Amino acid sequence: KKDVDYVSTTEIAARRDCGYMGINAQECYYRGCCWDSTANNLNAPFCFLKQHACKGYGVKNVQESAHGITFDLELLGACVRFGEDVTLLTAIIDFETESRIRIKIVDKNSNRYEIPKEALPTTDSTIRHVGKRGYTFKYNKSPFTFSIIRSHDGEVIFDSSVANMDNLIFESDYLEISTTLPEDANIYGLGEVVASFRRDPNGTRQTMWNRDAATPVNQNVYGSHPFHLEMRNGNAHGVFLRNSNGMDVILTPKKLTYKAIGGVLDFTVFMGPTPIDVINQYTEVIGRPHMPPAWAMGFHQSRYGYGNIEDVNQVVSRYRQENLPLDGVWIDIDYMDSFKDFTYDETRFPKAKVRALAQDLQSNNQSMVLIIDPGIPIAPGYEPYDIGMRDDVFIKTLTGRPIEGRVWPGQTYFPDFFNTNETWRYWQDQLAKIRHDLGDNVYPWIDMNEPSNFCNGSCTKDNSTAIERGVKSLERDGAAGLPLALKYLINNGGCQAPLDEKTIAGNAVHKNGLRLMDTHNLYGHMEAAATHHALLQIKPNKRPFILTRASFAGTGAFAAHWTGDNWSQWDHLYYSIPGILSFGLFGIPFTGSDICGFLGNVTDELCLRWHQLGALAPFSRNHNDIHATDQEPFVWPDTVLPATRQALRIRYSLLPYYYTLFERAHRTGQPLWQPLFFKFSQDSATLDIDKQFLLGDSIMVSPVLSQGQIQVEAYFPGHERWFDFTTHECVMDRDPSNSTKPGEERPHRYRFLKAKAGEDPVPMSILGGSIVPIQNPQLNVAATRSQPVSLIIALDEKGGAHGEMYVDDGESVQNQYEARVTFKLTAGEQLVSHVILKSPSISGGDLNNMTATQMQDFKDKINHGDKVEKVTILGLNFASFTAERKVEDGTGSRLDMYAQ
Ligand code: NOJ
Repeated sequence: KKDVDYVSTTEIAARRDCGYMGINAQECYYRGCCWDSTANNLNAPFCFLKQHACKGYGVKNVQESAHGITFDLELLGACVRFGEDVTLLTAIIDFETESRIRIKIVDKNSNRYEIPKEALPTTDSTIRHVGKRGYTFKYNKSPFTFSIIRSHDGEVIFDSSVANMDNLIFESDYLEISTTLPEDANIYGLGEVVASFRRDPNGTRQTMWNRDAATPVNQNVYGSHPFHLEMRNGNAHGVFLRNSNGMDVILTPKKLTYKAIGGVLDFTVFMGPTPIDVINQYTEVIGRPHMPPAWAMGFHQSRYGYGNIEDVNQVVSRYRQENLPLDGVWIDIDYMDSFKDFTYDETRFPKAKVRALAQDLQSNNQSMVLIIDPGIPIAPGYEPYDIGMRDDVFIKTLTGRPIEGRVWPGQTYFPDFFNTNETWRYWQDQLAKIRHDLGDNVYPWIDMNEPSNFCNGSCTKDNSTAIERGVKSLERDGAAGLPLALKYLINNGGCQAPLDEKTIAGNAVHKNGLRLMDTHNLYGHMEAAATHHALLQIKPNKRPFILTRASFAGTGAFAAHWTGDNWSQWDHLYYSIPGILSFGLFGIPFTGSDICGFLGNVTDELCLRWHQLGALAPFSRNHNDIHATDQEPFVWPDTVLPATRQALRIRYSLLPYYYTLFERAHRTGQPLWQPLFFKFSQDSATLDIDKQFLLGDSIMVSPVLSQGQIQVEAYFPGHERWFDFTTHECVMDRDPSNSTKPGEERPHRYRFLKAKAGEDPVPMSILGGSIVPIQNPQLNVAATRSQPVSLIIALDEKGGAHGEMYVDDGESVQNQYEARVTFKLTAGEQLVSHVILKSPSISGGDLNNMTATQMQDFKDKINHGDKVEKVTILGLNFASFTAERKVEDGTGSRLDMYAQ
């Protein structure tokens, strides 16, 4: 079928895409475009635009300086694709640092919405540390197109002159720009989504519109991250579009296109050249991940549907009885009186009993986490409502009333977290009440903050939704006069669902005048910022812990994240890996999935496998839905229980390693779980692997992801030696005959690893050349931290290894003391551990002359095992070692070892 009878091949080749991979004729017509599926040999889109190509813009008034270029862009001819043309633009090209460039294009004559400073502090960057610039910016004057060439390898990493695409469209409610990609591009990121880690280069349409949806594959879900990392010829670069409006980012063969329905074009391009560099450069811009308190790195047990406080008490006792490590005990909306935030159901969860549990946990060095939803019920007499109204903290409709939605407690108003005065104060006061009522070891879990709404747009008490009242989508609730009839429909929910579906209307406004239409994707991010700020005000210098469902670029500075309402199904066990890996790219490394799956009933085999893998996730929590059967590990005493105990003992024994990785993530952005190509970038076989991953630099995890599996066929990247973490046997030796080049098949780099359920732990391999610090696992993080440290040393071919360990008090924002230990073993020499102690409280931070009392104080404060108890060496070909420990005062201590 086709719309046109005769067309020349040139015309066909020039067709401009109006669809996405997989679009059908009906959807295409619905978009007002043409359909022709007969000319597919020309690689032309089936669904294409009727219009002629837009002519783009011409460059004028160029001003160059050492730090960048500024020029005007004048429209060359009417375009009117999905809105009114903006005829005059300004482009500001900023050579921000040696490894990143910012390209910002705005309306010259009027202010359009941009992400405000309070949401992304570096919005107006003043950072300039240009050393030798690692890139060249080139542009074409008419029509304007630009490219960025990385100096490192001469690669053109951004090029907006894409064949058959408009070069630049800048309209009232529509922005479009594309960049050229190589064939079969390796693109990672763009989320939040449930999908494979590497995005399909032949057809991906990633919509950015935060949405409460139970993890459908390939659709927009809870968070928005307009950032991607691309691997090309072993090098990495990154692209961030600083725009919070709804958008589609579309990957089709050889091009990537941004289609945004508002805001400005504001790209930051990161040069890499390693993937780790890219994330370092990106998190420098959006904010580094926060450093979590040590306890939060332990295991967490949660459930929606604990019937009463006794149920929770019992779960806690069972954990103790069964010798299962546990640090966080979570209570879902069940604890509230009629689901009202900051209240307690006095029958099932009386405040006194919740407090008693919190205190019991406190005395066992454990913590409690309580869910808080943003929707505040409209209930005069309910204090958070009354105070909220008095202080005017809620988001409003255009008519000036708070916008009304419906969530768990019924009709609700939504706090305006962009009001950093009244609302932040209000939020802090409410959270302070919880701390006051229950104690300092209670932390918030912020859910439903897309924000989720059980009716579309808004609804009133009479139970009618806006739709039921016959109000048209996007024009709901007093929207008269606001031109929100958008012509370009982003692919919300995979079907261009209205933008207010299950959320509040886009024409609602913040106190600062911003429209929800522009800030929607920032709601959860701002709630996380407000909550983080509040916790720091309530307890200064104590690290906050917050779990958030919705997120945006930069949320990692404030909160941890979980991948939302997943399913107790094998494919969702797999999706947890790309999910966590992607959030590592987004600067939120402290992420996990609901262990055993949230929705549906889990089998013991799946739950066992999920605990094995989930115990290693940066954020490790078993959580379940109210309608699902119980899934705590002890529900299956003979299968899941022992395997979980084993898995958690591995997690807890690795706590010094995790702590070190978390601190590095906080300093540099480098995630804890990393795709294999982060370390083995030159090995192109790693580019598609998302069923194995690296935990830090030294451990590779190759989990079981399907039913009935008893072994895993693992790929061993690079040309290295690897050892089994548990049996210590060498599972992959460096093969001297291996002269294959990246990309060539190397079947001998695959090995089957034993993984029998109920016998073997999750297959983990240590990379030769690493030193991993461990401790004897105890039943919580605090108890584990006070244990002596042991080292696992996996020797490389030459007999050397190195590693590191970071130690501080585990809870302070500004530490009184911190210690960085590096371990190094060079073949034929002693194992040397070098310790650098730092303390801001000692003049100049120099501890050279630290007294014995100060040293004792240091040990007391950090409450951390400081002795090396045991050293296990893998890959030795002679019998044993003796060790002698020498402690020196001051900055260093050494551990000397001699071969016997
Ligand atoms: C939705 C969340 O995603 C889920 O984790 C929680 O249990 C329910 N809300 C109930 O609060």
